[in-house]
Amino acid sequence: MGSALFEFGMIGLGTMGQNLVLNMADHGFSVAGYDKDSTKVNALNSEGIGKKLQAFDQLETFIAALKQPRAIMLLVPAGKIVDAVISELLPYLAENDLIMDCGNSHFSDTELRINELKKTNIHFVGTGISGGESGARLGPSIMPGGDTSVYARLKPMLEAVSAKVNSEPCVAYMGNSSAGHYVKMVHNGIEYALMQLIAESYHLLKNYVGLTNEEIQAVYDTWNKGKLKSFLIEITAAVFLQQDEYSEEKLIDKIADTAHQKGTGAWMSEDAMKIQAPIAAIDASVSQRIISSMKAERVMGATDRNENMATITTNKKDFITQLEDALHAGFMITYAQGLAMLQKASDIYKYNTDIATVASIWRGGCIIRAAMLEDITAAFRKDPNLKNLLLSDVFSTVLDKEVYALKGVLKAAINTSIPVPAMYACISYFQSYHSSWLPANLIQAQRDFFGAHTYERIDKPGIFHTNWNQTIQ
Ligand code: 6PG
Repeated sequence: MGSALFEFGMIGLGTMGQNLVLNMADHGFSVAGYDKDSTKVNALNSEGIGKKLQAFDQLETFIAALKQPRAIMLLVPAGKIVDAVISELLPYLAENDLIMDCGNSHFSDTELRINELKKTNIHFVGTGISGGESGARLGPSIMPGGDTSVYARLKPMLEAVSAKVNSEPCVAYMGNSSAGHYVKMVHNGIEYALMQLIAESYHLLKNYVGLTNEEIQAVYDTWNKGKLKSFLIEITAAVFLQQDEYSEEKLIDKIADTAHQKGTGAWMSEDAMKIQAPIAAIDASVSQRIISSMKAERVMGATDRNENMATITTNKKDFITQLEDALHAGFMITYAQGLAMLQKASDIYKYNTDIATVASIWRGGCIIRAAMLEDITAAFRKDPNLKNLLLSDVFSTVLDKEVYALKGVLKAAINTSIPVPAMYACISYFQSYHSSWLPANLIQAQRDFFGAHTYERIDKPGIFHTNWNQTIQ
């Protein structure tokens, strides 16, 4: 594209970076790409013929091709590589340039990078991007945080390339400092729990109801036309159609039952403990990925116990309807936990994140997009101070009915020894959240008994300690 300077730069021309560059060029923005790997550079240059883009394998020429003040996006693996790229870039940068990290970086790293770069008046924008390869190419959900003035520079481009729902772009300012990466971490934790809940429903459909892969596909396909309509249910249905290329069977039956993880779900659990936010469904889902990877131990445990799985004796169709309700309740309770944690984190870390805005940009483009986010957005728009989705009148009636269904599903799961930890976690959270009394008085008494940790009373203000006069052997 001649000698005109490019409006944006992209470092990292892997699948995500390359697709995002093409998406930006499609929307009329000029982009220079950089990658050390010349194969990726050549691939983008041939893909980009006739578009306002050019890829480089030399950092200096890439930098020289950018308009000032520069706006450079990073799509490189999170962690040390981000710091290495920043160090390489720094000698070439000037005041007011901005670096936008679009990877799955830990929010605390983003915080450090913002503060470090501020010293040289270079802006750092931590941004979550969700939607995988096709999202990057056709419209992802984008979660930027940081300074509002810096966001204003990026806003027209981000709005153009993002997914749209009801003509509204799936990008918005997420809040101060590292809010963008924090929101993406919460997105991923919710993603873990929704995936685990769906996997549990699959376990029940396969081993309790006794459905074939074709029948299971039909169930998810039907669910995707109703209140569970979502990207994850849609791809789940599609998974059961996939033929294995090496055998006559469906691919799903050839995949090992050991799930991997890059860590964003565990990050959410870690920070939840730190800020004291209860997110039991997400914690259970992270743990279940770990248990799934302990295959050898599980095989040993299974031969030791050899429990028989009972199959369904009641009406299959009724149970499947009950399961649909139970799964919908699980989804709602998961969103409730994730968003309540985000609200708490926003207060603690002073992000000033608007929860309705977060829910609204998750309606399209991202992995956790779902029809129910429309109602969730509406609930938070109606009451911006809503403490928890479970308190919203829009959901309480629906959830009461669905939690009844969840109880039925859990009974079946217990009786047939099918582990459904995320479903348990959802119902325990729901029931605890709706309990005006919990047995924590006993915990207070025990703490005071063995450690003089004191307790509070229900009838008098103040802090009390009792000389518990029991003799313990
Ligand atoms: C997205 C995804 C993505 C994430 C994968 C894998 O929003 O596009 O969340 O960012 O990397 O889902 O995550 P795990 O390896 O932790 O399962």
